[in-house]
Amino acid sequence: MTTPLTIALPKGRVLRVVAPLLERAGIDVSSLLADDRALVRDSPASDLRFLLLKPDDVPTYVEYGAADLGVSGRDVLIERSSDLYRPLDLQVGICRMVVAGIVGRAPPAGVPRIATKYPRCAADHFARRGVQADVIYVQGSVELAPIVGLSDLIVDLVETGATLAHNGLEERELVARISSVLVVNRASYKLRQDRIRPLIAALRAAVSQGRSETT
Ligand code: PRP
Repeated sequence: MTTPLTIALPKGRVLRVVAPLLERAGIDVSSLLADDRALVRDSPASDLRFLLLKPDDVPTYVEYGAADLGVSGRDVLIERSSDLYRPLDLQVGICRMVVAGIVGRAPPAGVPRIATKYPRCAADHFARRGVQADVIYVQGSVELAPIVGLSDLIVDLVETGATLAHNGLEERELVARISSVLVVNRASYKLRQDRIRPLIAALRAAVSQGRSETT
């Protein structure tokens, strides 16, 4: 019996768009759709095992070989700079990382304070623009920070823009375009290429099919 290929997937909103993509690639995703708390979901029909993780943890599991492949947002990948092979943009989970601030409020006179879940991306962005900035790490609900005076600006993800609008914030600058990317452990890619290459090809075809259906 072979060891199933293990794929690390992010729980939550990205999984809801990744599961149909996997299905279009011919993968049996029935165990993924089960409404329970199991973190390991086997797909014997496809000889695959899925691990359900916090999105931030996917690159770690793949880099250390606990999973052969994974699906990770570019936001997490650029923040971490993990050593992973990245053969395919999955064209889902599309959003943008932006600098945002309170609607109509002028930039502060001194060094701006930036609240973010992405301290490295934020620091790099302001450094590239030659702007000195004080970056404050927060884990979530980032939009709250300028409202209560923790920061002047935020760096965060925007998809529909509803969260910014509901909290009286506006986009100021684009930091990076974000989407979900297939990531592969470098050793697995070499040692299990007989399984991984056809899987990448099937996913590539599913991505193109998805693109032609939405145009
Ligand atoms: C993300 C992001 C924004 C929101 C943007 O947060 O950090 O807060 O989604 O989406 P929108 O533009 O469609 O409103 P998430 O829901 O992942 O939770 P978090 O605040 O805990 O990070």
